[in-house]
Amino acid sequence: MSDVLSAPQPMGQTGLRGAVVGDTSLSSINGEEGKLIYRGLDIHDLARSSTFEEVAYLLWFDALPSRSNLDAFCAKLSARRSLPDKLTAVLRDIPADGTPMDALRTAVSALGLFDPNVNDMSREAQIEKALTLTAVFPSILAAYYRIAQRLEPIAPHPSLGTAANFLYMFTGSVPDESAARVLDVSLILHADHGMNASTFAAIVTASTLSDMYSAITSAIGALKGPLHGGANEGVIHNLQDVGEMQNVDAWVTRKLNAHEKIMGFGHAVYKAYDPRATELKRIAKEVGASAGTTKWVDMTERMEQAVWNTKRLYPNVDLYSASVYYTLGIPTAYFTPVFAISRVSGWCAHVMEQYADNKLLRPRANYVGARGVEYVPVAERKDDVRLLS
Ligand code: COA
Repeated sequence: MSDVLSAPQPMGQTGLRGAVVGDTSLSSINGEEGKLIYRGLDIHDLARSSTFEEVAYLLWFDALPSRSNLDAFCAKLSARRSLPDKLTAVLRDIPADGTPMDALRTAVSALGLFDPNVNDMSREAQIEKALTLTAVFPSILAAYYRIAQRLEPIAPHPSLGTAANFLYMFTGSVPDESAARVLDVSLILHADHGMNASTFAAIVTASTLSDMYSAITSAIGALKGPLHGGANEGVIHNLQDVGEMQNVDAWVTRKLNAHEKIMGFGHAVYKAYDPRATELKRIAKEVGASAGTTKWVDMTERMEQAVWNTKRLYPNVDLYSASVYYTLGIPTAYFTPVFAISRVSGWCAHVMEQYADNKLLRPRANYVGARGVEYVPVAERKDDVRLLS
């Protein structure tokens, strides 16, 4: 029997909005009230008082770590941050002018080949893979960046955390504490977000009982797209296109009149202010003030006002993260990878949750194609001009 005849509720082009694919105890979004919790903890409390490493621990072990647990956890990450030589060789071999997200996807896929325990599905092996993946994302990206610049990759700094190491391995200079903290808060805000597209991609792959590297590779591919993680790069391109404050209103009107989407606005779940945008707006203003230029955040705020006045759309997480990263000096092509550096912790948590209570994710499609088509032997078929041109 075809899928359509027994499909209970064809979804059409609804993009699965509102569909519930399973249970999770990792994070929850209240889209009406603009609230986000990780394992019951409010995102604002975590952003103001925790670190990214604490949040990763929270997601994987269901509680915030004690001081000694945290120290041990950070030491495990630190011990796994260096890239295997074979992986660095892969990064040297792939085209230097690719996007960093493509390089990251390729490197994570290769990493699975170098892990002799790739198919060990025990909880211990899962944690080991989650640690390795979370530890090496910044190292992969910084190494790819430097190789592309014809520079030697820099080894991770043993006493710096995830955020500071990412900045350090780009330049070789230990970042000042405030810059590292700003990036750290951004990582906290991006760590998990319910059943978003990349997390869904990860758990679909995990649900086949494929390995964690494959699941995370799927997720990276999904995050790359401009409707998901790629939007933060689009925001900075838009700001550059606008150029000056006095052009913002006319630019927004022109885009909306042309029915073009403006990156950094709208959300599939939030129908209120994205709580991550609240935090990032605060940080963007602080970073701008301490860098001595608030041009980008001021223009962003004006854009927020103009879009609200015309279209009643709220900003999402990507709107203000763009000016934060730009002011920190992170190259634009590395904005989405920063998202990935954080979200890998959430992806791994969801993959482990999926493995713990697995059911193959296998939805159905509403078949809208032809039926009862008469079979024609190859010798009697007409040429299709689309294929011969
Ligand atoms: N700019 C302009 N208009 C937008 C918009 C945006 N960023 N986001 C949504 N809209 C408009 C749509 O054009 C549509 O208008 P219409 O009803 O007049 O046709 C309406 O709002 C609903 O849009 P839709 O795409 O159906 O909403 P959605 O909830 O399915 O989409 C997104 C969610 C994220 C895909 C969408 O808001 C978007 O593309 N945003 C830009 C990309 C982005 O910032 N992504 C990061 C998400 S965290």
